[in-house]
Amino acid sequence: MNTKVDEIADRIYRLSTFLPAVGPSGFTFNQFLVDADQPLLFHCGQRALFPAVSQAMASVMDPRRLRWIAFSHIEADECGALGEWLAAAPEATVTHGAIGCAIWLNDQAPRPPRVLADGEVLDLGGRRVRRLDTPHVPHCWDAGLIYEETTGTLFTSDLFTHVGDPPALTDGDILGPAVAAEKKFGYTALTPTTGATIRRLASLGPRTLAVMHGSSYSGAAASALESLAAVYDGLLRQG
Ligand SMILES: [Fe+2]
Ligand SMILES: [Fe+2]
Repeated sequence: MNTKVDEIADRIYRLSTFLPAVGPSGFTFNQFLVDADQPLLFHCGQRALFPAVSQAMASVMDPRRLRWIAFSHIEADECGALGEWLAAAPEATVTHGAIGCAIWLNDQAPRPPRVLADGEVLDLGGRRVRRLDTPHVPHCWDAGLIYEETTGTLFTSDLFTHVGDPPALTDGDILGPAVAAEKKFGYTALTPTTGATIRRLASLGPRTLAVMHGSSYSGAAASALESLAAVYDGLLRQG
């Protein structure tokens, strides 16, 4: 198993592991390191990926420097290796939204979590991360995303999921491959608020989308989010 490292924005690193046996044409599992005075990891990856992902991080910085661990929602690829990361980084704290702490982390995390309110900013020293509650987007009640304000990077978790092992960063079409993956897997918990939640993300005006499965995107990110919201509005109308 090999984890590739790419800097997709200034001091924001994508740690990507391609698993060829997952899905019809393989699948990438991407974690993101926000390098700052207090470095933050977004997504832990599954436990089986931890040796490869932590080795990849070590090519950028000593994993013991990690101070924050965050993720979108409770699922193995998002937070399966939380215990391994907290053991490897003794000064790190896991942070999540109020719902996720209440229904999972307060009971299951090896160390107490730090609750981040909707809209609250974590100042990492050189990078600023804003928490956004996005319940049931892409799925799970506890779901939320983070937005790094100095680079304009939105970490989208499973939004824009697409298959294969495409380039780390693209300015090409990511909507088409994402719609194809949605139609194949049906992974989004479609509700009457799905479109509005995604449009709120577009209103941030991001310049880069850090995508968990597939290429990250640099370009007209807000309009890509608006288009994705319109796709889900359409699916909802179809019933
Ligand atoms: Fe997920
Ligand atoms: Fe995922």
